[in-house]
Amino acid sequence: MPQAIDTPDLFTPLRLGAIELPNRVIMAPMTRSRAGAGNCPTELTAEYYAQRASAGLIITEATQVCDTAQGYPNTPGIHTDAQTLAWRAVAEAVHGAGGRIVAQLWHVGRISHPLFQPNGAAPLAPSAIAAAGQLFTGQGMEPFPVPRALETAEIPALVRQFADAAKRAVYDAGLDGVEIHAANGYLVDQFLRDRTNHRTDQYGGSVENRCRFLLEILEATAHAVGADRIGVRLSPTGVFNDMGDSDPLPHFLAITKALNPFNLAYLHVIEGRPGHHMAPPEGAPHVAAALRAAFKGPFILNGGYSQADAATALAKGEADAVSFGEAFIANPDLTLRFNTGATLAEPDRTTYYGGGAKGYTDYPALESVAA
Ligand code: PHB
Repeated sequence: MPQAIDTPDLFTPLRLGAIELPNRVIMAPMTRSRAGAGNCPTELTAEYYAQRASAGLIITEATQVCDTAQGYPNTPGIHTDAQTLAWRAVAEAVHGAGGRIVAQLWHVGRISHPLFQPNGAAPLAPSAIAAAGQLFTGQGMEPFPVPRALETAEIPALVRQFADAAKRAVYDAGLDGVEIHAANGYLVDQFLRDRTNHRTDQYGGSVENRCRFLLEILEATAHAVGADRIGVRLSPTGVFNDMGDSDPLPHFLAITKALNPFNLAYLHVIEGRPGHHMAPPEGAPHVAAALRAAFKGPFILNGGYSQADAATALAKGEADAVSFGEAFIANPDLTLRFNTGATLAEPDRTTYYGGGAKGYTDYPALESVAA
């Protein structure tokens, strides 16, 4: 029997900490804004993810860890008993269909509005700096409000909310793990990057201080569910949500090295391919290769990869797996289509957010596969 396979492809099994993947075609987290009453996932949510169970791993849409964490209409939470029970049904459906699923845990921080906050309060953030631009409240567009800078003494409770959500996800809902959303300009990323973190306490200033919030979340969640069921997602050069950093390469190298002692299940980095909306802006460095070299565990890349791009990235050792977003919206059986060279269906962008089954669970799988 031949032993190890030197050059992995998308169909080579992969172990991410405690999670065994039969292939390396990962479903990226995507907000679909279809949660039901109480921000609970619905039967349709379970059907949607179960249809995509042939992914090596499903990473759920970003999911609120507490009642200050929301910034979009109808995004699910995992902090109430009803939400947790609803996620249990999702996990059972995915497992029943032979899949694996981790919950992406988020807090939006300043990317919110009093309309989403308890008692109409200001959203929370590391510093009282509003994002440029507007957000959709469900009723219309509103400018991003000036958030309230968190008191130092409030931070431990937020850290605990992540750990409690992780416990609910793994022990109560039966998901396979969690991904800490530390990307795309949401709360953890707002702490990591110096455009949004102007704090003068132990959570701001140096990069060591700016990553303290993330590291405390990892310590608490690892204590709760085990580091081998935890991934982290970063977007070092992303500008989405009015983000930026003065020196992303050294800063995110330091952050990545600080992750190593945890022995996480994986690190998931967004660095868009040329032309992709998550590509580094003009003049910004590309950092993914350096982070790949610095990180001691499994590395997942994301950002507009085609099947061929992904295969090349794996063959060159640029990543251990690649996650696909929009392609999974329109192709529930994306793994099979990649494996058989079948044509990919194009997603309908008008049904990405909100609504029901249309554009969500009604994309057909291939009925038969040409030999
Ligand atoms: C979105 O809802 O547009 C969204 C959510 C989470 C992300 C990125 C975009 O990380």
